[in-house]
Amino acid sequence: MAEKARLICASADLVEGGRGVRFEIEQQPCFLVRYCGEVHAFFNRCGHLPVELDWQEGEFFDDSGLYLICATHGALYSPANGRCLGGRCNGKGLQAIAVIEIDGQIFLKEA
Ligand code: FES
Repeated sequence: MAEKARLICASADLVEGGRGVRFEIEQQPCFLVRYCGEVHAFFNRCGHLPVELDWQEGEFFDDSGLYLICATHGALYSPANGRCLGGRCNGKGLQAIAVIEIDGQIFLKEA
């Protein structure tokens, strides 16, 4: 059976280590970022408290562009897989979401 896919945004909307793109799945806030050339998506919910990460809308990376950072208390996450790398997330990572990039567009994989 073919998979359905929902368009989220254009590939050009995501710059390496730059602003992310926010979207929702069933009213749950989520976001996309580009890191090491790949697109990664997560639910926008910190592992410490159930708050959104971005300090300004779409700003998920720290100054280095290497880590995702929670604006509230500074927990650090891997942009590659959402793993907690330090701070108050205490080993609880971000929940990843399956996406695909095809022909200059990024899609959410839906069952
Ligand atoms: S709410 Fe994210 S580190 Fe505390």
